[in-house]
Amino acid sequence: MIDLFAPVAEFCAIEIPRAHRLPIAIVGAGAIVATAHLPAYRSAGLEIAGITDIDPGRAREVASRFGVPVVYRDLDELLADERVRVVDVAVPSQAQPEIARRVLRSGRHMLGQKPFAPDAGIARELADLAADRGLVLAVNQQLRFDEGIAATYRMAELGWIGDVTAVTFDVDIDTDFASWDWLREAPRLEIMYHSIHYHDAVRWLLGQPESVFCAAGREAGQRVAGETWTVSTYTYASGARALVHSRHANRWGDQSATFRVEGTRGAIRGTLGMLYDYPHGRPDTLAVRSEVIGTDGWVPYPVTTRWIPDAFAGPVASLLAAVATGGEPRSPARDNVGTLRLVEALYESSRAGTSVGLGP
Ligand SMILES: NC(=O)c1ccc[n+]([C@@H]2O[C@H](COP(=O)([O-])OP(=O)(O)OC[C@H]3O[C@@H](n4cnc5c(N)ncnc54)[C@H](O)[C@@H]3O)[C@@H](O)[C@H]2O)c1
Repeated sequence: MIDLFAPVAEFCAIEIPRAHRLPIAIVGAGAIVATAHLPAYRSAGLEIAGITDIDPGRAREVASRFGVPVVYRDLDELLADERVRVVDVAVPSQAQPEIARRVLRSGRHMLGQKPFAPDAGIARELADLAADRGLVLAVNQQLRFDEGIAATYRMAELGWIGDVTAVTFDVDIDTDFASWDWLREAPRLEIMYHSIHYHDAVRWLLGQPESVFCAAGREAGQRVAGETWTVSTYTYASGARALVHSRHANRWGDQSATFRVEGTRGAIRGTLGMLYDYPHGRPDTLAVRSEVIGTDGWVPYPVTTRWIPDAFAGPVASLLAAVATGGEPRSPARDNVGTLRLVEALYESSRAGTSVGLGP
């Protein structure tokens, strides 16, 4: 049985061959860069040429903590550094499109943060700009590289559970959104900034749904403006369906984050370890039951890495591989337009109180 897991482990492994590595510069020296990007990039042996932030003190502090050799005064100075071939942008999403336009016009490949753009129209414009210039533009939807989710995808792709018929994410955690000052007044919060990861993962597993329905709301006494709980359902022409439930006010010590993928010949179930104690957490758990490979009941899959920081090496690894080989990254901007279209449909559904079709 353990040998059968080899092609799954191979798919999940994130390695960056020396020949793929290019000097990277980072825009934004905030929490996610210090907690996830730089630790992951350091472990992967990547060269960080320099970093910039509109708060220069923050950029200096993060640079000294991680041994980043240059702190650029601003984006102009970063783009003037001819060694830089890839720019990793990790700033609040409203600021990202203008930076992205300048990065792409300068001829650099780019990794953008999620949410990639405030709306699908701007995302499409940026994807077109990159395509016109022959550049790779990828989005940091790194749940696609989280070991539990990547292994699930590969098991489904190998046909272990037959046809996928249902995907469920059920997340019941305690998140203090108010600790990000730029999120406090955001009118769109939970889907746009958190469960966009699950919605992107459902699309990865099942494709774009035919229609969605979403209910969303606020918890009594919450300190942020936007919605903090959401329940989203998707339907597909094939009869497949998905459910994403996510809430952030579990104060009772039993946070949980589970997922399940159901198929005609088996099922896969797991937990997202990071969310049990964000941002440290624990590795995911994963188990599969399959008539195709003949498991004797549920068999555990040994997950050995974490969402933070390990999965954060994935998007940059796949971007660098795409640059080196001319292929597509696992989460290209062009595909992310579909994730943002889905997000917009979910908001429209919760506003209108009806299901919303996604169209072609
Ligand atoms: N992929 C993930 O799982 C994940 C997790 C957390 C945050 N994020 C995303 O990463 C981005 C940053 O989040 P964070 O948690 O680090 O926030 P943060 O508030 O800790 O940091 C944001 C940083 O960006 C800087 N900044 C703002 N505008 C800028 C500009 N125009 N030019 C240069 N620097 C600028 C700020 O000074 C700050 O240092 C957001 O888009 C967020 O949605 C993604």
